[in-house]
This record gives sequence, C-alpha cells and structure tokens, in this order.
Amino acid sequence: MAYDNILVETNGHVGVITLHRPKALNALNGALIAELGTALDGFEADPGIGCLVLTGSERAFAAGADIREMQPLTFPGTYTDDFLTSWDRLARCRKPVVAAVAGYALGGGCELAMMCDIILAADNARFGQPEIQLGILPGAGGSQRLTRAIGKAKAMEMCLTGRTLTAEEADRYGLVSRVVPLAELQAEAMKVADTIANLSLPSVVMAKESVNRAFETTLAEGIRFERRLFQALFATADQKEGMAAFVEKRSASFNNA
Ligand code: HXC
Repeated sequence: MAYDNILVETNGHVGVITLHRPKALNALNGALIAELGTALDGFEADPGIGCLVLTGSERAFAAGADIREMQPLTFPGTYTDDFLTSWDRLARCRKPVVAAVAGYALGGGCELAMMCDIILAADNARFGQPEIQLGILPGAGGSQRLTRAIGKAKAMEMCLTGRTLTAEEADRYGLVSRVVPLAELQAEAMKVADTIANLSLPSVVMAKESVNRAFETTLAEGIRFERRLFQALFATADQKEGMAAFVEKRSASFNNA
C-alpha cells in the first residue's frame, strides 16, 4: 500500500507509523486520517505485530487538524458527513499504541496523542488545544481526554485560552508518561513498544481494555470487569508458560495463545 501522508514500517513485532506532511507541520487532513486508519487496520490484522508506535518529526508531532481544509466547512456538511468520526479509529485500536511526541502537538495533534496509550515526550514537545483562537473548540475528544488526564482547572485554562504546555509541565501534570531528550525519543519509544510486543498479546490487550474501562464505569463495575479478565487469562497457555518460566528461572516464550 502506498501512502502520501504517512510512513509505515515494521520493526520486529512493532508497527511504526510516522505522520509525514513536513511542509504543513503534519497538519492532519482527511487524506492523512484515512491513511492512518488503513495502516492501523493492517497492523491490527497482522498477528506478528504486538504494539504500535505513532510519531511525527522533530519539529512537529502534528500542529493540528488542517485549518485550510476546515476553513470552508459548513454546519450542515459536517453534520451530514459526521465530520471527525474517522478520527476515532485510533482510539478503537485494540493493540497498544505508544505516541512518541516531539515538537508541536497542538489541537488535533494533541488529541491524537491522547488517543494513544502511552505518551513519551521529547524535551522540545509542546502540547496545546488552541482551537479557541480559531473560533472553535477541541473536536476530537480534547475537552474530554485532557480533562480526565490533567483535571478541570488545567484543562479549562488550556481550552479557554489556548495556552500550551512545555514537556516538563505535561510531565508534571500527568499528561505524558515521561520526558526524554529529543535525540533519544525514537529509541526509547521503540524500547517500550518492543517490551510490550514481546509479552503475551491476549494479556496485553486485556490490560489495555481494563485500564481504559476505568474511564467508562464505576469502581465496583471496573473491578468486576478486571477480575473476569484476570480469571480468563488462566485459560491461556501463555499464563502457564509465564509462571513456569518464573519458577524454572528462565525467560518466558509467549505464543499469544
Ligand atoms: C494547516 C498548518 C497548520 C494547520 C501549520 N501549518 N499548522 N496548515 N493547518 N493546523 C502550516 C503553515 O500554514 C505553514 O504553511 C507551515 O505549516 C509552517 O507553519 P508556520 O506557521 O510557518 O510555522 P511556525 O511559525 O514555526 O509556527 C508553528 C505553529 C503555527 C505555532 C505550530 O504553525 C500554528 O499556530 N499552527 C496552527 C496551530 C493550530 O491552531 N492548531 C489547531 C488547529 S484546529 P505555509 O504554506 O504557510 O508555509 C484543530 C481542530 C481539532 O486541530 C479538532 C478537530 C480534529
């Protein structure tokens, strides 16, 4: 499959997707989002892939949805086409996705990063929801995911003023899992993704689903959900292998079964 707006490669058991519209700071147009969906479908269907990395350039993860493309849109058109529905594909990904963010992650770029499961930030990363300065608001989950991630006060200031966060602030507020020097970002992201990709895929997919359930339900229901998945994993050969390997003091070799 040939892509015009992203680069797609496989590195061992890790699928890597690089946003690639360098002249527009990876502004997210419809074509790019469609290509991203196709690439995600491919990696999800590939049994050899256990984890994904989503990244951009050193200057920009993505500077937002493409403003030039959005400029002529109308309410009847966006409503009829259900504009932005295709963005949900990333959030529906069952395999884990590590976002490796350098430079600008603004508007839809920040929203895309927040749809991922782990955000690693380079020390030059900048996170923001500047839509309010364009007369709109975050439309791909930003007002919801940002608020859950960093709380109302900080999310409100960002969404109402467009203030951007430095990588250090994003780390302190809990938006990212950690900050690394720019030169080490890609290697660190690969290391994290490779670690995940070499674990038992059923347990990894269930762990992701269980953590995400915390955002959707009550504590009692979430704990019940987690317990059922935990019990289910005792039906897998990988549970037998993982525990046998511990007892026999060797590394486990999982078969995703
Ligand atoms: C279209 C964009 C773009 C965007 C940058 N570019 N961001 N094009 N949509 N979101 C283009 C510029 O027009 C320019 O193209 C080129 O990328 C380089 O950008 P510059 O502005 O020249 O770079 P710089 O001066 O370094 O400023 C960087 C910047 C600025 C601070 C990131 O580009 C900026 O403010 N961009 C917009 C950020 C933003 O408002 N994002 C939210 C978008 S709304 P040319 O051809 O002129 O050289 C959004 C909605 C989400 O995301 C909800 C729905 C998903």
